[in-house]
Amino acid sequence: MVHNPASRRELLKAALALPAIALMTGANANAKLLARTIPKSGEPIPAIGLGTWQAFDIAGNRSARAEAREALARFIELGGKLVDSSPMYGSAEAAVGELAQELRVHQRLFLATKVWTRGREEGIRQMEESLRKMRIPRERALDLMQVHNLVDAKTHLAVLRDWKAAGRIRYVGLTHYHESAYAELEQLLREAAPDFVQFNYSLAERSAGARLLGVAHDTGTAVIVNRPFAEGAMFRRVRNKPLPAWAAEFDCATWAQFFLKWIVSHPAVTCAIPGTRNARHVEDNLGAGLGRLPDDAMRRNMARHFDALA
Ligand SMILES: NC(=O)c1ccc[n+]([C@@H]2O[C@H](COP(=O)([O-])OP(=O)(O)OC[C@H]3O[C@@H](n4cnc5c(N)ncnc54)[C@H](OP(=O)(O)O)[C@@H]3O)[C@@H](O)[C@H]2O)c1
Repeated sequence: MVHNPASRRELLKAALALPAIALMTGANANAKLLARTIPKSGEPIPAIGLGTWQAFDIAGNRSARAEAREALARFIELGGKLVDSSPMYGSAEAAVGELAQELRVHQRLFLATKVWTRGREEGIRQMEESLRKMRIPRERALDLMQVHNLVDAKTHLAVLRDWKAAGRIRYVGLTHYHESAYAELEQLLREAAPDFVQFNYSLAERSAGARLLGVAHDTGTAVIVNRPFAEGAMFRRVRNKPLPAWAAEFDCATWAQFFLKWIVSHPAVTCAIPGTRNARHVEDNLGAGLGRLPDDAMRRNMARHFDALA
């Protein structure tokens, strides 16, 4: 047997690096990610996506760009699809477009962005610009255009319906990030019947569970969950706290997976979009789309456990 110390060292290094990403690189590497169905079309979509706020606002920063490139490549390699952006996120739309083109992965992505301005003409100008920045080929539709934070929602919804009919976008959505908007979102789900709605929902911000998720379900609206980690604050709460042993009962190996599995196990949730450009965090997050999910009793247990850590 030939001993090659260099490759043994490499192997050891790789083995030491393994635990955090075991779910995605070991026996489960080829396992299929949990998918949900978009109610209005029946199209399947993986239940874990990728958010780009701050993470992909990387203009002029070469090392951040390299990180984002690696994160996006890993996301696709592991079966991720939905990437969410907005003209509000600085250079993020352009970064997603450029990197997707470089990696030649536009066809494998479900790209979502937003309109975030007032007025019909200004909205159209901004949306044209977003499609250009995201490098959506002229012959292809953007997958999802959402009204960001309900800004001038009725004006933009009328245009979005026309764009959908004309084949420039495939789906229409509305977004917000705070419970103060839930009543308006609920009313618009009933009156305007968008394909998607996006809002905050997590173990730290649970109020959408009281009504809004039920209304989304009843109106056949796909739900994208933003702020799944309350912008990262949830990791600070569990820092240095061990994951409970019973998390293994639903194939959960990390706190990120604990938080995400709690979200995507709600039957009305279509996709959660954790924000990051860290490839290891992408691997960790997509691991939440593998294996068993908690049932209702376990979800209540998880909430009690999280509250007790406060
Ligand atoms: N109104 C709206 O439409 C609206 C509002 C808010 C958010 N959004 C969308 O929702 C997305 C998600 O929300 P968010 O970015 O505000 O907050 P978030 O996803 O709740 O949290 C992001 C934070 O979590 C950390 N993180 C991610 N994965 C991790 C992991 N596996 N382990 C440890 N830390 C991890 C990130 O750190 P690292 O960077 O170090 O990975 C970052 O600090 C946004 O990016 C955006 O696309 C939309």
